[in-house]
Amino acid sequence: METRLPKIGILDSGVGGLSVLREIHALIPCADLHYVGDSAWCPYGTKSPEVIIERVVAITDYLLSRGVEIIVIACNSATIHAVGSLRATYPIPIVGMEPAVKPAAALTRSGVIGVLATEASIAGEKFHHLVNQHASGVNVITRPCPRFVELVEKGILSGPEAIEAVSEAIAPLAEANADVFVLGCTHYPFLRTVVEAEVPAGSHVVDTGPAVAKRVASLLSTTSDSSNNPPEIHIETTGNLEQLNLLLPKLLPGIEARTSVAKLP
Ligand code: DGL
Repeated sequence: METRLPKIGILDSGVGGLSVLREIHALIPCADLHYVGDSAWCPYGTKSPEVIIERVVAITDYLLSRGVEIIVIACNSATIHAVGSLRATYPIPIVGMEPAVKPAAALTRSGVIGVLATEASIAGEKFHHLVNQHASGVNVITRPCPRFVELVEKGILSGPEAIEAVSEAIAPLAEANADVFVLGCTHYPFLRTVVEAEVPAGSHVVDTGPAVAKRVASLLSTTSDSSNNPPEIHIETTGNLEQLNLLLPKLLPGIEARTSVAKLP
């Protein structure tokens, strides 16, 4: 009997969620993926919860009109502010993500963890709840890194500018004795190599992308497809298509994708 995997819709404020798309593709290589990066509205990290919810609802409607059957909010800021409204509105699986505070609290030996995340995420009630529930007794130091988002949107993933931005963010956390660093925004894993070079020796760097991919796989009755057709990976932006096409070989090397502009309100 032929098995057909549901098409998976993935959204983010920009290209950051592609760090989640690559994990999903690695785990479920046969799945058709439809990604929308809201680069015209990036960053979400400085936007109000109302604006974030409005954008996420508009993108979800668009993805549903393109036939997706599962939505992955590949954005911590959008999950923290919009996952509740989305789950209450749409009768399909909605997978969200939050900064990896729980695994970080389990890993720390110094009792100090550094959470790099957007301003919007750090201000969210859901984030406070996460910290209270899973990191009691741990010193959780938060640090917004808006420059990381700017760098990744420009495709600057290494070099002096990236090193300077990362070291500026990491230094105070390292000084405070943090030994686990949470990449709490989906743009940040694209700077992981630079982050790993800047954190103190023996520290851990954690992100939620692989766990999100596992969660998506757990929603499927199978992760293989008997048709042998190559998966269709469609990546859309609300911003500049030329810029997206320039970024993709850097962000998703070796992954073939069709690209276009998402015409959203
Ligand atoms: N990638 C997003 C996140 O995971 C948001 C980055 C931004 O737009 O500020 O939070």
